[in-house]
Amino acid sequence: MDRSDKPRVVLGVSGGIAAYKACELLRRLTESGHDVRVVPTGSALRFVGEPTWAALSGNPVTTGVWEDVHEVPHVRIGQEADLVVVAPATADTLARAAHGLADDLLTNTLLTARCPVVFAPAMHTEMWEHPATAENVATLRRRGAVVIEPAVGRLTGEDTGKGRLPDPGEIFEVCRRLLARRAASGRDLAGRHVVVSAGGTREPLDPVRFLGNRSSGRQGYALARTAVARGARVTLVAANTSLPDPAGADVVPVGTAVQLREAVLKAAKDADAVVMAAAVADFRPARYAHGKIKKREGREPEPVALVRNPDVLAELSAARPRPGQVVVGFAAETDDVLANGRAKLARKGCDLLVVNEVGEDRTFGAEENEAVILGAGGGETPVPHGPKEALADTVWDRVVHMLNAG
Ligand code: CTP
Repeated sequence: MDRSDKPRVVLGVSGGIAAYKACELLRRLTESGHDVRVVPTGSALRFVGEPTWAALSGNPVTTGVWEDVHEVPHVRIGQEADLVVVAPATADTLARAAHGLADDLLTNTLLTARCPVVFAPAMHTEMWEHPATAENVATLRRRGAVVIEPAVGRLTGEDTGKGRLPDPGEIFEVCRRLLARRAASGRDLAGRHVVVSAGGTREPLDPVRFLGNRSSGRQGYALARTAVARGARVTLVAANTSLPDPAGADVVPVGTAVQLREAVLKAAKDADAVVMAAAVADFRPARYAHGKIKKREGREPEPVALVRNPDVLAELSAARPRPGQVVVGFAAETDDVLANGRAKLARKGCDLLVVNEVGEDRTFGAEENEAVILGAGGGETPVPHGPKEALADTVWDRVVHMLNAG
């Protein structure tokens, strides 16, 4: 295979003792037919030298932005990559990536890459557990990067704990899966308009209080991001979220179920698919108090009367504003997950229902998810525990399949 036909992988190496293990990852990547460009940080070169990376990759090795300037490597390497993997990713590299710094070739590459990005952290347990690192990891994951959990075991000195670089074979598998998905799905939503609802509605009681729910919006945002990556025009109807806008999506902020209905129905008119990932309140207070509701000494509080909200998913499924439109619902269940999911799918009349189990510590606000996608025709696609992006991609796989079949 000619070099230009091979998938292009950038292997970022930062300055930790585990840098030597990245040689094994590099070897696996090149032997399995990838064109790998190694971009070490300055301190990585203190652990493993430039000749090793050059010999194993067969490519030039650059660290700074002032070498080969005529080729504009600080922009080109990231733009042309099919995957960037940083192994090991030190606490410092995670921090620089999270904050968008661009003080060497690796951080410049991370800013210009639009392909999947994987970080395999390695550091001492104290550094991994420090709130600064935890927040940086959360930021990177929120933006769609895959940050692999470090392994537990012997660290550099005498001590053991969480912070070891995951096994190079395991990192390789994550990379291989991401590249395979990219090759398989490519831009299979190009030319399509998709609408995604995300977050949770808030139903006001008075100017300071509302009835709400614990949905963070992360799953809906992952759906929007992955749809953009697959070439779709994306309208994201976002109810009370505090996540950064996914690049390339048209974000419509809403507050209540009634506002969400209006925004979704408007965007759905010319949509090929609508995915209702938002947690829409089924009820709203019957009466809105224009002044703050006050407690009165010696008097019991007034009960809050509720009225039904419109069911947007059921309405869309029945109306299908555009012929052949695929409508997908989400269901959060605590008990009898599959049986309740099947019944809900039938009741709502949608094409697919993504059912996940929720509980006090599960799913809400988490970075990962596990679900079963039920099809109206009886199909069942289990999605193992993994990043919300992976579930999002599986949903789009099913949607693309239905759009192409119809
Ligand atoms: N949904 C909607 N409009 C509503 C309520 C829910 O469009 N008023 C959508 C959600 O976006 C989700 C799906 O319906 O895609 C499932 O919502 P859920 O609240 O779990 O289902 P319910 O019908 O409310 O069932 P139950 O409360 O009995 O669990």
